[in-house]
This record gives sequence, C-alpha cells and structure tokens, in this order.
Amino acid sequence: MNLEKEQRYVRFVEMIENLMGYKEQILQDRIPRHIAIIMDGNGRWAKRQGMARMFGHRQGVETVHRITEAAAELGIEYLTLYAFSTENWNRPKEEVDALMALLVDTIAKETPTLMKNNIRLQTIGDISRLPQATHDKFVACIEQTNQNTGLTLVIALSYSARWELIQAARQIAQAVQHSKMLVEDINEETISAHLTTRDMPDPDLLIRTSGELRISNFLLWQLAYAELYFTDCLWPEFTEEEFYHAIVDYQHRERRFGKTSEQVR
Ligand code: IPE
Ligand code: IPE
Ligand code: MG
Repeated sequence: MNLEKEQRYVRFVEMIENLMGYKEQILQDRIPRHIAIIMDGNGRWAKRQGMARMFGHRQGVETVHRITEAAAELGIEYLTLYAFSTENWNRPKEEVDALMALLVDTIAKETPTLMKNNIRLQTIGDISRLPQATHDKFVACIEQTNQNTGLTLVIALSYSARWELIQAARQIAQAVQHSKMLVEDINEETISAHLTTRDMPDPDLLIRTSGELRISNFLLWQLAYAELYFTDCLWPEFTEEEFYHAIVDYQHRERRFGKTSEQVR
C-alpha cells in the first residue's frame, strides 16, 4: 500500500471505530485476566448533589453491581475492587460505622446476583478488624459462592499493600527461623506465595476513578507491570461504557516487560 492509501485506510478504520461502541471494539482474544479498580470519588459525587457522603457510597454500590456483571459477561477471570483501605479506618467514626453497615446490607442483597452469575466472592485484607456482623456476612457469602466457576470477585477490605508485605515478611522470617526455608531460596515466587493474592495472576489493568493519580497503598507488589488507566469520572457515575473504554485502551498498548518492541512483536 502506498502512504496515501494507508492513511486513508487508517482514517476509515478510525471512522468505523467511532461509530461502534467500545464494547464492540473489545478483542475477545486479548481480554485482561485480572482487572483491579480503585473505586474513588463517592464523597465528592454526593457533595455535588448537595447530599451526605453516605449517599455517594450507596450509589457506589450500584456501580459495583453493574461493573461486576459487565466483567462476568466479558469472561474476565478476576476483578479486584478496593473497597476499604487500612488508612480508611482513620475516617470519622460515623462514616466507618455506616460503611460497615452498608457492607452487611450489600452482601445480603447481592448474594443471589453472585449465584445467578456464577461469581465466586473472595476478600483480601485484614478482615479480623471488621465488626463481627460484617465479618460473618462476608465469610458466609465466600462459603456460599465457593463452588462458582465464573468470575472471581475480590473485595479488598481493610487492605493495604504495606500491611500485606509486613505479614509476608513475618511469615518468611518465621519459616527461616524454624529452618523450613533457606535465606538463599527466597525469590519472587516466595514473596508472591506469601501475599493475600497468592492464588491469583497479577492485575493486567488498574483503573482508578475520580481523577486522583496515585496508588494509595493498593497491591504495590502485584501492580509492578500492570497497565494504568485513570479517569476523572467519579465512581458512582462510572459506566459500563467507560469500563469497556478502559479495556479497549489496554488492548491497544504494547506490554514490553522490559524487552524491546521488536522482541515482543
Ligand atoms: C471511595 O470514595 C470509597 C472509599 C474510600 C470507601 P471516597 O469516600 O474516597 O470519596 P472521595 O474521594 O472523598 O470523593
Ligand atoms: C483509596 O481511596 C481507597 C479506596 C478506594 C478504598 P481513598 O479516597 O481512601 O484514597 P486517598 O486517601 O485519597 O489516597
Ligand atoms: Mg477518596
């Protein structure tokens, strides 16, 4: 093809893509195995409506419902949602209490949807810090959905990457102390195997809503080679279309893992 023809062809493809929705543009053979999301902006969204922060959190649950169903339908294997960080325990007590109560209601309401969509629930984080009722509801739902074989929905609750890495360091140190492991044998696999995500592939794509450009103590080890996607959209108004857009964007990137472009093509 000469240059002019090629440019015309590229413009033609772009025009077709613009006419299609993002969902239709998703390449089925390049679906990310694991998507992680920092769901941010509930409070700001509520404030914009002149409402209390909890109104935003409740609306945020609706987004979780929609995006989880969309991920399951696309055949994504793991969806990890950052719902409550170790640092979030420092928020005003009323907000923490209300969030914990919201989690209990949500689990009760959403368990049938998880069963219907063949979704398995898991959590990562220090769930021993949760109030008893919240803790028990999660454990029960994890058990109930344990045999489901579709999407694994991982809720990061009372989670932070530094907390997780400290736990891993302690466990490894104990193994060495009890002569179950040699210091020379500690490698990448050893660390990964002692993290809460030990049975999961690393995230391929990280999405953060609300325009903040930071990781906020989320999956620091596991995100080493994730593709990052930031959007200004606040979590309660994050749509399926925006989710598909993030996936299409991801699929257009070249993941080189330190190699050259020529090597990976
Ligand atoms: C994210 O929304 C949800 C949680 C951290 C629990 P925020 O509550 O952080 O909302 P903003 O960032 O204040 O708008
Ligand atoms: C990150 O959101 C944690 C969750 C989404 C659960 P925050 O709103 O707590 O993050 P920072 O404090 O603004 O970085
Ligand atoms: Mg926030």
